Amino acid sequence: MTEPQSTSPQSGPQSPATSPATSPATSPVTSPAMSSAARRVLVTGASSGIGAATVRRLRAEGWRVVAAARRKDRLEALAEETGAEAFALDVTDDAAVEHLVEHLRATGGLDAVVNNAGGALGLDTVEAADVDGWRHMYELNVLGTLRVTQGVLPLLREAGGGDVLNVTSTAAHGAYEGGAGYTGVKHAERMLTTTLRWEIVGEPVRVIEISPGNVATEEFSLVRFGGDADRAAAVYDGYQPLVAEDVADAIWWTLSRPAHVNVDLMVVRPRAQAHNTKVARTGV
Ligand SMILES: NC(=O)c1ccc[n+]([C@@H]2O[C@H](COP(=O)([O-])OP(=O)(O)OC[C@H]3O[C@@H](n4cnc5c(N)ncnc54)[C@H](OP(=O)(O)O)[C@@H]3O)[C@@H](O)[C@H]2O)c1
Repeated sequence: MTEPQSTSPQSGPQSPATSPATSPATSPVTSPAMSSAARRVLVTGASSGIGAATVRRLRAEGWRVVAAARRKDRLEALAEETGAEAFALDVTDDAAVEHLVEHLRATGGLDAVVNNAGGALGLDTVEAADVDGWRHMYELNVLGTLRVTQGVLPLLREAGGGDVLNVTSTAAHGAYEGGAGYTGVKHAERMLTTTLRWEIVGEPVRVIEISPGNVATEEFSLVRFGGDADRAAAVYDGYQPLVAEDVADAIWWTLSRPAHVNVDLMVVRPRAQAHNTKVARTGV
């Protein structure tokens, strides 16, 4: 793990130079605070795929990033490459999340969180589904997001405001055969996100949902299919799926809007994908 680069508390990122409440027409496109290098963002699930691409993107924009996941070696390589701070974290572990929050508070606070750690296990019918697999998906995608969000909300308030950005999925918006375990947890994560936005409206904290369609990341489908590389590769056959950088771009864009703008939901799919299971493939 690398040490944090700064210990000085930062002012909140959420204060536009011109108050949108009184004069929205004159609000800046990007407030100085929003584009400031001082923003400190926690990205979970940062050791691969969308999370790692997000760390790279936010660092390229000059933001300070805490990159969290379980595999410390991968995080340390990413930290070395980007200048992010690596923090080993299992989001299913209460004590580990508490430790992270204490660390963040002691080292400068936090301006935004990207709750990205998550994933799918299996593609079984409801009748054949593995109960432990569903339990794990719920722990990771739903309770992991809940734990981290509960932990960091006070930090965002202490910073004067901030962002909670949750990476759900197009699986949070519809059903598909074999997908009930994953669509179920992503729907739950989506409800957590929407409900939180309703509950804290009026506070200077934005709540953002990004819902990607098929993204060809190195591990998502491999994990889903228990290491079966052929089955994982077949998910992306015959069309151009999204790549992790496409989603990182969407994450950065929503986080960098002026402070009065809340992108509630962004659905991002490959052009060739009209629905979870409606993909235009060629040559397959
Ligand atoms: N790929 C897609 O098609 C797609 C589409 C829509 C939505 N999504 C969502 O986007 C997010 C990222 O997906 P991805 O494609 O980038 O997947 P990925 O490459 O498999 O990355 C998943 C990340 O989550 C981390 N993680 C897993 N369990 C964890 C735990 N208990 N505590 C902390 N971190 C944990 C993994 O790192 P460690 O193993 O090192 O902990 C890894 O960094 C997920 O929420 C996924 O559901 C993906």
